[in-house]
Amino acid sequence: MTTPDYATRPATQNDVPQLIELVKSSIRGFGSNFYDDAQMESSLEHLYGIDRQLIDDGTYYVVVHEGSVIAAGGWSFRRTRYGGDQVEAARDANHRDPRLEPAAIRAFYVHPEHKRRGLGRRLHSCCEAAARDAGFRKLELLSTEMGAVFYRELGYTLGETEHADLPDGVSIPIIHMVKPIEGTGA
Ligand SMILES: CC(C)(COP(=O)(O)OP(=O)(O)OC[C@H]1O[C@@H](n2cnc3c(N)ncnc32)[C@H](O)[C@@H]1OP(=O)(O)O)[C@@H](O)C(=O)NCCC(=O)NCCS
Repeated sequence: MTTPDYATRPATQNDVPQLIELVKSSIRGFGSNFYDDAQMESSLEHLYGIDRQLIDDGTYYVVVHEGSVIAAGGWSFRRTRYGGDQVEAARDANHRDPRLEPAAIRAFYVHPEHKRRGLGRRLHSCCEAAARDAGFRKLELLSTEMGAVFYRELGYTLGETEHADLPDGVSIPIIHMVKPIEGTGA
């Protein structure tokens, strides 16, 4: 079997239509053992999605395979903690202080057909290096239940479980996780 050809690059706004489809495929593929039908549909409408601010900031990356975007993930120096553009209540464009606060890891989605090939790990390495270059010493994130095992493998420790309470009354557990950035002595 030949090794598939995967190229990583910063996302552009032109990627957004493909990214929207990637989010749906990823959540439907990985979430079916965790979410009931109501949680699946509601979370896709009200929670998961693309944060275009990250693309404008140059802190969102995609993996391209045969011309298609098949994985994405990013980090941020802004205070927004989770969610796509539609989650207005969670948005906060103010900057975090790299000396005192962790950078945020945001919106990792891998297409199920390309799972367990190291793409999530590869995207995370890009994010960790860029956050370190920006002066941050720690990372934090709010993970899905299905993502927590992946992040634990990358060195995160589990914090408290919060709940995203969506406008239609559906509730989605999200897990706070933290990690020192390699090479900063944090
Ligand atoms: C979480 C996610 C991004 C991981 O992507 P991935 O490219 O498959 O992950 P990698 O191949 O880099 O995995 C790195 C390691 O994490 C662990 N891991 C990843 N997915 C795992 C799973 N489903 N079960 C157990 N361990 C897993 C493994 O130790 C793996 O190494 P290995 O394959 O050599 O054993 C992907 O499953 C996904 O898109 N999930 C749906 C969306 C989501 O929940 N995103 C995270 C929340 S922001």
